[in-house]
Amino acid sequence: MTEAKIIDGIAVSKRLREEVATRAAALTAKGVTPGLAVILVGDDAASAVYVRNKVKACEQHGLFSALDRLPATVTEGDLLKRIRQLNEDPKIHGILVQLPLPRHIDSHKVIEAVAAEKDVDGFHVANAGALMTGRPQFRPCTPYGVMKLLEAYDIPVSGKHAVVIGRSNIVGKPMALLLLEAGATVTVCHSKTPDLAHHTKAADIVVAAVGKRNLVTGDMVKPGAAVIDVGMNKTDEGTLCGDVDFESVRNVAGYVTPVPGGVGPMTITLLLVNTLESAERAAHAGV
Ligand code: GUN
Repeated sequence: MTEAKIIDGIAVSKRLREEVATRAAALTAKGVTPGLAVILVGDDAASAVYVRNKVKACEQHGLFSALDRLPATVTEGDLLKRIRQLNEDPKIHGILVQLPLPRHIDSHKVIEAVAAEKDVDGFHVANAGALMTGRPQFRPCTPYGVMKLLEAYDIPVSGKHAVVIGRSNIVGKPMALLLLEAGATVTVCHSKTPDLAHHTKAADIVVAAVGKRNLVTGDMVKPGAAVIDVGMNKTDEGTLCGDVDFESVRNVAGYVTPVPGGVGPMTITLLLVNTLESAERAAHAGV
């Protein structure tokens, strides 16, 4: 039995991040240092780790980053006011509000308050619409990272059948659009889909983005398929695991991403890319 090739998101990230650092240095030499503002509301432990890693990655690659930590009790009005200040700040080229937000805050309202030209998450309706209509400005970082992994391993997308499991605004929906843009025939499955295996067994590419351990097992995968695991879950022992049962899938698939070390590092890498490109556009426009 041949084992699947393990997709190394750390190695692919390293190459892309080196390119980001070079371009960031070139822009800094022209007097524009790419700047990312990150807003964290409350003290959710997982969000705090993600945010710390985003800020650290900026610092390591020559981007400027400013972290705002706001209490869980912050009012929606105060949060919106802070976003409007950052919209006007010429040192800031990207604004990221870490999700989820506390329940008393309307996250749609917050996302729409970020200036579309600084929305490096690609969540603003203007950017979601631009992606939908084939003129993307910012591609959402996680699905964009998945596309970069497929590209790095020369995994064909055009004319292939891709199954996306999950329909979130952050991953599932933009993932389906990016695969469609690249010429795949796309099926989107979710919690209400009967007989998930029927769909996954027919797929050349499976992207699992649900948040459920062992959702995709080897018997659900077509031999030779590429299986991309976007899940971030905890095992009973408290270690990180994805949505894919790695051990059974690796015996069937052609390619599989590990968790950790697969999609995870790519999300931050593409955030750096989006922030850099936003700064390049601003510098070009003389903003
Ligand atoms: N929470 C989980 N993933 C993300 C992401 O990509 N961006 C933001 N802002 N929040 C998230």
